[in-house]
Amino acid sequence: MFNPQTLQQFNNTDTPFYYYDLNLLRQTLNICKQAAGRYNFKVHYALKANFNSAVLKEIQVAGFGADCVSGNEVKAAIANGFPAHEVVFAGVGKSDREINAALDADIFCFNVESVQELLVINDLAAAKNKAAKVAIRINPNVDAHTHRFITTGLDENKFGINIWQLDDVVFTLDNCPNLQFIGIHFHIGSQITELDVFKDLCAKVNELSDWFEQRNLPVKVLNVGGGLGVDYNAPHENPVADFEHYFKIFNEHLIVKQGQEVHFELGRALVAQSATLVSRVLYVKNGINKNFLVLDAGMTELIRPMLYQAYHKIENISKPQQAEQKIVNYDVVGPICESTDCFQENVQLPESHRGDLLAIYSAGAYGEVMASSYNLRDRVQSVYSLPEAELIKG
Ligand code: LLP
Repeated sequence: MFNPQTLQQFNNTDTPFYYYDLNLLRQTLNICKQAAGRYNFKVHYALKANFNSAVLKEIQVAGFGADCVSGNEVKAAIANGFPAHEVVFAGVGKSDREINAALDADIFCFNVESVQELLVINDLAAAKNKAAKVAIRINPNVDAHTHRFITTGLDENKFGINIWQLDDVVFTLDNCPNLQFIGIHFHIGSQITELDVFKDLCAKVNELSDWFEQRNLPVKVLNVGGGLGVDYNAPHENPVADFEHYFKIFNEHLIVKQGQEVHFELGRALVAQSATLVSRVLYVKNGINKNFLVLDAGMTELIRPMLYQAYHKIENISKPQQAEQKIVNYDVVGPICESTDCFQENVQLPESHRGDLLAIYSAGAYGEVMASSYNLRDRVQSVYSLPEAELIKG
């Protein structure tokens, strides 16, 4: 995370940039690994949260598998050292080209989201004389109590196979010789902070695992999720998510039969707090009812506030907190030609000036990866807490 004292070394760096605290990332990965390892749980890192190569290398070296949602993510995972047999390929719309490439790479398994997709994978695998390992993604209709844009496990969501279609799945698996059924997969949403929802999920998983076994389809892998939430409000106080509590709930409520493996797909909780978006104040505009800080970063660098009304803590790191400081209410906005390009309204900050640096915290997940070149903007840069020589190289 960005510690204001670290500012000196980057004061002359061109803004905006993502600052990656790789030490915090390492610490987070260790804590997660230990907490999961206690129960022999395996975590695949969801590349969609962040596929910056320096970040990927840290995660690969720490011993996580990879959860990918596009052919290019599969390629990036393998190029960054994740062994193919630890790569899972999920996603509601895998193209034939992507499936073929994943079959050629001999990945661990496909998380399959429809009966039609099962048939397509079977045909493509048959053409290569291969057996594709598949896990069935089931939509459990469990409410994750998170923002509706990042809920994935309700009947109305496009993800997974609905429970009433499972007879058809069994029939298809029985009739597709180039598919090898390995397990069941669930995901109910992201940024989940009410962890009790996982108890409801576990109850569904237990029931469905028995259902498949009764139909002569042994379930080797239970892949469960819902992403653990992070503390966007107090990133300094809570830099590491509560992995202990998260895994403990699954350990207590999931019935794991002998020989079964439990897999998780975590993205956000592993990387969110490790990056800060650093931006400079370009202009201060004082209106009648509003004061605007116009930054050199906007929705092209971090779109979460604009897309999900997400909160990210913002600080002026050029003006350390002091008593007697004049505090002003600002709307912190970006330079993009869109009214929605606002990081946050009514932010209480020390009186700020052109050239000040602002830190927008908890930007490591779904930040850099969702950047765009809208308005033909430059690609956002990244800097790291470790010197170049200490970055893990491929
Ligand atoms: N597995 C599946 C099947 C998913 O759909 C997701 C996230 C993950 C794993 C990783 O979940 P995580 O641990 O990161 O919560 N762009 C949004 C988040 C979208 C998440 C979609 N699925 C945001 O910025 O909040």
